[in-house]
Amino acid sequence: MDDKKIIFSGIQPTGCITLGNYLGALKNWVNLQKDYNCIFSVVDLHSITVRQDPTELRKRCMSFLMQYLACGIDGEENIVYFQSHVSAHAELSWILNCYTYMGELSRMTQFKDKSSKHADNINAGLFTYPVLMAADILLYQTDLVPVGIDQKQHLELCCDIAKRFNGVYGDVFKIPQGYIPKEGARVMSLQDPTSKMSKSDPNVNGFISILDDADTIRRKFKRAVTDSDGEIAYREGKDGINNLLSIYSAITNQTIDESVNEFAGLGYGVFKERVAEAVIEELRPVREKYDELSKNKDYIKQIYTEGAKRANYLASKTLRKIHRKLGYVDR
Ligand code: TYM
Repeated sequence: MDDKKIIFSGIQPTGCITLGNYLGALKNWVNLQKDYNCIFSVVDLHSITVRQDPTELRKRCMSFLMQYLACGIDGEENIVYFQSHVSAHAELSWILNCYTYMGELSRMTQFKDKSSKHADNINAGLFTYPVLMAADILLYQTDLVPVGIDQKQHLELCCDIAKRFNGVYGDVFKIPQGYIPKEGARVMSLQDPTSKMSKSDPNVNGFISILDDADTIRRKFKRAVTDSDGEIAYREGKDGINNLLSIYSAITNQTIDESVNEFAGLGYGVFKERVAEAVIEELRPVREKYDELSKNKDYIKQIYTEGAKRANYLASKTLRKIHRKLGYVDR
């Protein structure tokens, strides 16, 4: 490999890839891929902290990988693969579990959230999930992790674990940095703009899937919850409008101020239509590419098989180094 820095990131195959995932993560992966050696994984090991239907999960995993490519990720230049195809993730996760404190994991807000949502299944995997995420990142000596803001706490924990391990054994892991976009780092639900747009929201009007067709996108924005003061401005208390302005700004690569100026004096109806049209145009090529890829399953298989092979090679190198440091007998 050349001397480019390394990016690692992933999306859990649950629900469907939303506009939030796209603006918070995927769009930035696409923009950064020229300048980095990138490793993008469909993190299927993570997804079973919540019960999954096996047939659905298999389909969804394939679909997510195809959506990465449809968004413009180059599957030949980069490493694109399924996490479960590289066993080093689970192995390193075990090791790092022994260098992570219960107290640290109990403070994770996502664990608190998810355990209250799935009170009947608070499994140990849900609790140690951030350790697996740390393993994903640290296995590849990653420099940069492009994610939305909700992953910031997990990323900080990853750095703490890496520093702790390095403190005992010397320089084993590179300490990664997050890449969180200015706009789009936290896209909110269209139905409840005080909570995050979530891919497993039971209310389909709350999120946009990146594969939604134009009419669906138009309808969902039309129904988006706003407020009654009628002014297109970005300020506290205007969560719905703030969200639409951030979405528009993230897509058009302009500042919030520029977006506010662009819509000055317009009514909410026209504003929503314009945001919807911007989203439709952004996602149109994604849907088209996805349909094309769906007809080429052999090519997809080649991408993820080759991806796992290359990921395995890199991950085993790190794992070998760790085994030596820990004092395990050479194989
Ligand atoms: P996940 O699958 O929940 O989300 C995937 C990516 O999308 C971002 N995101 C959002 N960004 C903006 N607005 C939103 N409403 C929104 N919702 C989600 C997330 O921040 C994330 O970047 N634990 C991770 C997956 C993971 C991972 C990793 C990420 C596992 N290992 C290693 C990076 C590196 C997760 O559950 O993301």
